[in-house]
Amino acid sequence: MTPMIEQIALAIRDAQSEGPLLQAGKDVLTGFSGDKLVGALQRLALLFERDSAGCYLEVGVFQGLTLLSVASACRSLQCYGIDNFAFFDPEGQNLRIVRERAAKLAVGNATVINKDYEDALESLAQTTGGRKVGVYFVDGPHDYRSQLMCLELVLPHLHRDAVIVVDDSNYRHVRQANRDFLMTHPEFKLVFDAYTACHPANATPAQRRAAQEGWWNGVNILVRDPEGLLPPAYPPTERSRQLYENEHIVHAGAVAELAPQATELLQLLLRNPLRFVASSLRLYQRLHANRTALASRYPQMNTYSADLPASRFNTAVLAPESRTRPNK
Ligand SMILES: C[S@@+](CC[C@H](N)C(=O)[O-])C[C@H]1O[C@@H](n2cnc3c(N)ncnc32)[C@H](O)[C@@H]1O
Repeated sequence: MTPMIEQIALAIRDAQSEGPLLQAGKDVLTGFSGDKLVGALQRLALLFERDSAGCYLEVGVFQGLTLLSVASACRSLQCYGIDNFAFFDPEGQNLRIVRERAAKLAVGNATVINKDYEDALESLAQTTGGRKVGVYFVDGPHDYRSQLMCLELVLPHLHRDAVIVVDDSNYRHVRQANRDFLMTHPEFKLVFDAYTACHPANATPAQRRAAQEGWWNGVNILVRDPEGLLPPAYPPTERSRQLYENEHIVHAGAVAELAPQATELLQLLLRNPLRFVASSLRLYQRLHANRTALASRYPQMNTYSADLPASRFNTAVLAPESRTRPNK
């Protein structure tokens, strides 16, 4: 093991036994995270404190619990948080709340990047001045593709000794994205994982308290191990890929955008048939209102390719017909 991987493992062990580092922000900071998770992020960030070319980065700020807990525990490290505030913010107050909390804690080293994570990660160097990401915390959108893209798009920005913390790894599609990333990037290794029986939202009060004091909704921690000193390890996943294969059917179906509502309807059919009838009616009205747009689609196997070029070359290479043929 390298000394850095050893320090990373010790930081995680200390967080596991002692929780968060600072109690100072306790009254100011609330959000969706567990004490051990916050403690791990703080301790891992401290490992990069003296590296002026390093930084902390997270996707998913919400009201600033993790971003400001790290920034206040590690004041000489620049900390960046990406959030487009598209979720859990019906009144549009979260950015203001983060700024007010930062002021209350006198935190001057935290910057919110108010963008979608793809836009933010694609132009990250412009915002961070080229700093390399020592600790990367993934806690934004949890669909399979976003989870994977959060890992892929950060690669050019990662520090040589980077550590990646993926929250919500209880979800099987999050574990699958982590596994797929580890399989295709064997220079990264899973160094720690922790799970609970369910999401805190579905937990008993005692389970929820434990999640709050623990790792919240499961965690996977990945380290860079270019010398291959650690044995390969993967989060548990299911061998069947059926759910991911279903995406093709849903994506190419005429009513793909309504897949969440259709799933919800099936659940109601099972649990609350009376509400099923009312919800079906509402969904039917939505379909009817969109009937003109939907009529232009096929029932299945929609490709959305009607306006695409019949064929083309990369602009940097010559089209074959204009290329001078070498003499035979
Ligand atoms: C669970 S919250 C993050 C919790 C936070 N780490 C804390 O300490 O409480 C998830 C956040 O991800 C953000 N998010 C979801 N999709 C996003 C996207 N495509 N781009 C950027 N942020 C996104 C949401 O707006 C939300 O604030």
